[in-house]
Amino acid sequence: MSRRGLFGSALMAAGAATAGVVAGRLTAPEQADDRRTEPFHGPHQAGIATIAQAHAIFLSCDVAKPDRGVLRELLAGWTETAAALTAGHRVPDSPGTAAGFSNHTDFASDLDPARLTVTFGLGPAVFDDRFGLADRRPQHLQPLPGFPDDALNSAWTGGDVLAQICADDPQIVSHAFRALRARLPGLGRMRWTQHGFLGRPAGGGTPRNMFGHKDGTANARPGTREFDDTVWATADTEPEWFRGGTYLVFRKIRMKTADWDMLPLAEQNRIIGRRRGDGAPLHGSDEFDPVDLEARGPDGELAIAPAAHIRLVNGIPMFRRGYNYDYGTLLATATAATEEVAPHDHPAGTDPNHTHGGHNSLDAGLLFAAYMNNPPEQFIRAQHAMAGTDLLNGVIQHTGSAFFAMPPGMKEGEPVAAGLGL
Ligand code: HEM
Repeated sequence: MSRRGLFGSALMAAGAATAGVVAGRLTAPEQADDRRTEPFHGPHQAGIATIAQAHAIFLSCDVAKPDRGVLRELLAGWTETAAALTAGHRVPDSPGTAAGFSNHTDFASDLDPARLTVTFGLGPAVFDDRFGLADRRPQHLQPLPGFPDDALNSAWTGGDVLAQICADDPQIVSHAFRALRARLPGLGRMRWTQHGFLGRPAGGGTPRNMFGHKDGTANARPGTREFDDTVWATADTEPEWFRGGTYLVFRKIRMKTADWDMLPLAEQNRIIGRRRGDGAPLHGSDEFDPVDLEARGPDGELAIAPAAHIRLVNGIPMFRRGYNYDYGTLLATATAATEEVAPHDHPAGTDPNHTHGGHNSLDAGLLFAAYMNNPPEQFIRAQHAMAGTDLLNGVIQHTGSAFFAMPPGMKEGEPVAAGLGL
């Protein structure tokens, strides 16, 4: 949706709310074109080039049986549900739903679809022997290699089929998740879910990660040649059914926010290579100033430190469309992330008998989700460049990982990955 469209919808929403107050109740938009919908059909799946919505759930599941028919039914059922919900329609009933029962729950009745998108992916194991699809494997869809700093929890790793559910209303996201899950019995087993959020400055602009830095500055803009060349798998070496698709690298990255908050601002900026406030590179004055890795400060030192994050991954193209997450201490005991209080310095004047406020048990950070068409030259190369060296490594920890081929877009009436000919 264009900025103008967004603005128009905001005005309409404001108008509706006012009307609702006058009428004494909130009225839902009645007409389809009042609704904030994203197109479901097209050459590429929605939810990739779509301006990131404010809320997301990533749902990864395994196919219940080594049976191609089961995979086919799962993908067809999920496509049907997703197409209906993104258009703002009711949840369709599954085949064989008994009289008196329905998948419809009213949980999202009268709500705007809030730019809901559901984006599907297939994990590497789908193309192992189980479904007889080995000859149709996307060329880069191999399990990701391990990296030296990984602290992966198997409970948050892998999966056969992914649904990335995004919308500007968390209730719409939860409702879509619930409707997709309801189609799993007999077809798939949930493996993991992750919930994220992303606040965006009024009027647009780059969102911020949990370290307070603008995150996404160097991303190619959707609609540009650079974006297309970075994201869409069009190479002749890809199987034909997959052309127009892309790959998604998903990493659950815990960010040690409490440790970070105790670092002086100058050190935070040195770690990233950009200023936290305005996102400008350390030698520059504007967020979008070109990065100059040779620039030196008044002290003669490199402005962007040798091990700063943006130096090590500079110019490696990928489209980062991640979400922040904050589970508080909810999952702390389930993570590899809980550790003894690591040696650290305190700001001057800290009471020597202070407690640590549980800061090492916090699980918050980044659901890193990056789209690309050549993962070995993009994510894997960048991750190797960071490993062991990047100043960021002291304050982050990769605790989950998954990798998917995201099929091209659907035509009306077709299931996702129709070209696979399941
Ligand atoms: C929690 C972990 C991470 C944090 C907090 C983080 C933060 C940032 C920030 C603040 C920037 C600068 C603004 C921007 O261009 O978006 C950036 C750039 C970038 N990051 Fe990360 N990042 C993280 C993990 C990763 C990982 C795992 C990769 C890939 C392996 C990665 C790849 C990149 C790339 C390619 C750029 C753009 C570099 C350029 O060309 O200027 N980041 N990151």
